[in-house]
Amino acid sequence: MTIDSPDDIVRLKRIGRIVALTLKEMQENVRPGITTAELDEIGAAVLKQHGARSAPQLAYNFPGATCISINDEAAHGIPGSRQVQPGDLVNLDVSAELDEVYADAALTIPVLPVDPQRHNLVLCSQRALKKASHAARAGQLINVIGQAVENEARGCGFTTIMDLGGHGVGRKIHEEPHNVANYDNPNDHRLLTEGMVLTIEPFITTGARRVYTAADGWTLKTSDGSLSAQCEHTLVITRGKPIIITDL
Ligand code: CO
Ligand code: CO
Repeated sequence: MTIDSPDDIVRLKRIGRIVALTLKEMQENVRPGITTAELDEIGAAVLKQHGARSAPQLAYNFPGATCISINDEAAHGIPGSRQVQPGDLVNLDVSAELDEVYADAALTIPVLPVDPQRHNLVLCSQRALKKASHAARAGQLINVIGQAVENEARGCGFTTIMDLGGHGVGRKIHEEPHNVANYDNPNDHRLLTEGMVLTIEPFITTGARRVYTAADGWTLKTSDGSLSAQCEHTLVITRGKPIIITDL
């Protein structure tokens, strides 16, 4: 969506805060032994408490309130009986709707003790999000996001997934602009415009550029089993620093 009234931003911030609270509550419960279904129940309860609805359930009939993806699972992992283990990279991705407005955010939690490479992968994804957000200003190419993400990944000795990226959000969970790439694509001439609402979500891996859909029909796994870390915010593009919607 493009923000065109003060009411838009109020409603967007309301759902953005609920998404952030949901992630925080789930994050605080990530520990060895907890199952991804239990984490999902915690997230579902926070959404319900605020009257919000899970976007993946609403839009795609996803079998869970949130997406929980571990290690080589990059995205759309189905909550279930899998128990979190020490050393896991646990990705929590929450998107939700309230009052016909949507927000989307995610983070990856390293479960201690974790080896330095895994820890670096998570930190790299966070820096990529920060740098891409900083570069994203009205009048710039959408491609500045992919450039910033790819630069950061390369600088850390990692790569980015070409199949997954950010997207417009607001009136729907996925809308224009689609395919906000995590790599430099000189053929993408689209511009960032003032008031544009989109997600930035770097997927950084220890090697893979591609994902495939697992046998469950949902989970997207890295092509070669390499590790993935992703983090995500919903932002509003301005002429200066973007407004982060999914912050607390
Ligand atoms: Co998301
Ligand atoms: Co997203």
